[in-house]
Amino acid sequence: MEIVLSGIRPTGPLHLGNYLGAVTNFVKMQENNRCYFFIADFHSLTTHPLAEHLQENIKQVLSEYLAAGIDPEKSTLYIQSDVPEVAELYLYLNMNAYLGELERCTSFKDKARKQPDNLNAGLLTYPTLMASDILIHRATKVPVGKDQEQHLEMARTFGNRFNRMYNCEVFPSPTAYNFGEALVKIPGLDGSGKMGKSEGGDNCLYLSDTSSVLKKKIMKALTDAGPQTTNQEKPDCIKNLFTILEAVSTKDTVEYFNEKWNDCSIRYGDLKKQIFNDVDAFLTPLRERITDIRADENYLSAVVKRGAEQARESADTTMSEVRKYIGIKRLF
Ligand code: TYM
Repeated sequence: MEIVLSGIRPTGPLHLGNYLGAVTNFVKMQENNRCYFFIADFHSLTTHPLAEHLQENIKQVLSEYLAAGIDPEKSTLYIQSDVPEVAELYLYLNMNAYLGELERCTSFKDKARKQPDNLNAGLLTYPTLMASDILIHRATKVPVGKDQEQHLEMARTFGNRFNRMYNCEVFPSPTAYNFGEALVKIPGLDGSGKMGKSEGGDNCLYLSDTSSVLKKKIMKALTDAGPQTTNQEKPDCIKNLFTILEAVSTKDTVEYFNEKWNDCSIRYGDLKKQIFNDVDAFLTPLRERITDIRADENYLSAVVKRGAEQARESADTTMSEVRKYIGIKRLF
């Protein structure tokens, strides 16, 4: 049995990338493992959200997790800030995290490029907070998308370093997980990198988007002038559309459009209509469940309370050991 943990920042509703990169893999693991899934509200503070938006987003994301099949009877589903021990472990790990390694982290370098005017210490130490989330439950498997691979490597580094420094084996070595398959990266609709909340609304297909919004976004997705020679390689924007098609359509459909690409008879309008139909069929039942669950605040409150209790119990066990090794305890 593995200890499985994953989390998502409540910086907006969940998109197809979050769902296919992290949530569905997690859901598949909850039958036979000890599973923790949480909402990373501390992490989202790096962007300074308004308090009321943060609260709304937490409720939305919680409803989306539940609609996606995370079962609070089988898994511990909690909000990060309900477990203050995470912030304590973050403090301890920061004492042994070095500026150079934090500055070299790709996600930090990315932020330094994109938002030089808000390069706060929370962004720099994002990997130590993420390591605390993982290590506090001594998780061994972490179902995440491809973009989190480096953060996982850093969590291993920080955990191993602690073990070495204090000559103990408190922390196992967690690994990113996708059932032996490559980690998922769902691209955005603007022809560039990944589908991501910070890339802007039209780049993302949100689980809660209505059919008409989905249609508008997909029909507007960036394409090129079309293939000029048979069997040519696809440019990034077209590769991206095929990746989304592969995620939601049948093999036959993907093959059909690949043949059309290869013999230069593809019509992007048809490809986009197909993607819209299949994404919409995929998301409609989920969207309906999200709306029902979001309306039931009593249920959400019961889930969160129970999750907090379970998560704190597990965190407390780890932290008692951690404090003992560090020497933080009541003297008398
Ligand atoms: P966040 O909120 O950016 O993303 C949450 C999860 O969704 C995955 N993901 C994707 N997967 C495939 N294709 C995409 N386009 C795509 N976009 C996002 C991410 O890989 C992630 O699994 N740091 C994390 C939150 C976190 C966490 C943790 C995760 C905090 N502590 C501990 C695991 C364990 C993050 O930025 O999530």
